Amino acid sequence: MSTEKPRILTGDTPTGVLHLGHYVGSLENRVHLQDEYDCYFIIANVHALTTRSDKTEEVRTDTLEITKDWLSVGMDPAKSTFFLQSEVPAIAELTWYFAMLLGYGRLMKNPTIKEEIRVKRLTDQYSFGFLMYAVGQIADILAFKPACVPVGEDQVPHIEMTREIARRFNQTYCGVKGGVADEDHVAKGGVFPVPEAKIGRIARLTGTDGTNKMSKSLGNAILLSDTAKQVQKKCNKIFTGRGSIDDPAPLEGNTVLEYLHIFHDDPDRAAQIQEDYARSKIGDGDLKKEVGQAINRFLDPIRDRRATITDDDAMDVLKTGTAKANKIAEATLYQAKQAMSYDFFPRNLSL
Ligand code: TRP
Repeated sequence: MSTEKPRILTGDTPTGVLHLGHYVGSLENRVHLQDEYDCYFIIANVHALTTRSDKTEEVRTDTLEITKDWLSVGMDPAKSTFFLQSEVPAIAELTWYFAMLLGYGRLMKNPTIKEEIRVKRLTDQYSFGFLMYAVGQIADILAFKPACVPVGEDQVPHIEMTREIARRFNQTYCGVKGGVADEDHVAKGGVFPVPEAKIGRIARLTGTDGTNKMSKSLGNAILLSDTAKQVQKKCNKIFTGRGSIDDPAPLEGNTVLEYLHIFHDDPDRAAQIQEDYARSKIGDGDLKKEVGQAINRFLDPIRDRRATITDDDAMDVLKTGTAKANKIAEATLYQAKQAMSYDFFPRNLSL
């Protein structure tokens, strides 16, 4: 029975289509986890409004595009549950209760929040909702009581805050004592487990600018939906630091070589290519061609699969998954309210 497998929860904010950094940082991990875990994948379309509250139609489109990206990399709705954050009301309700347990000062010390304020130049102009998203993420996670949360490194501060709130809820409302070990919280009567973060194979993939982390907003990303031609063009533009074929540029920090080893399907051949490059047997142009081709071989099956998926397919997958997600989240919310003596009336929700 799939329900007896340990559960995981993770997901993406729909900020546009996904890229290679998402693939090696999380998507690939999710595909592999599907057999051993009961997986819940959230599309955080409410969080997308933190920066795009005026572009709801775009977010709606991105929501379907991300679902198609997920399906095309092999995340499988027959094994896992894909769902839409905005259509699971229990998450919004839990957000309120958790917000009461989280100090404002603590939230403002969260390094991911601080970094987002800096990078997106929000200064003191961010909305109330921007701060709420971090509390909302705690609710996204705990509503499903997962054993672990596979994420990129940048999300670890959010998982740390989630762990704190799980402990605080259990201590405040369920009689769990202060010294109880994280893994014993549920056995000692806590509603929520204290979930662990799980980091992907490549915590940080360099973008095609050769410096920054790959990110769509920085314009340095190779998208999963790029054509073969676009991929090769992006590879050709990567700066390697090598002037001519006889100029043995440092191999360290060469983004094309980084991609070679991550995406080439034959490690021996990849080592040989690097060797030839280091000995100036081949130059930048040859290396970039090899790497462009390797990435295209890797992306071909993903592109082929993506071409067969319609908007209606994506919507169907989300609807089925969201109905299932609601059953679990509603049950968790009811337990939480019982612990709080807020279980005034039972209710039934249907999609
Ligand atoms: N904040 C995450 C990101 O931008 C997306 C997300 C929302 C998430 N809710 C989540 C990730 C719950 C893991 C668990 O990547």
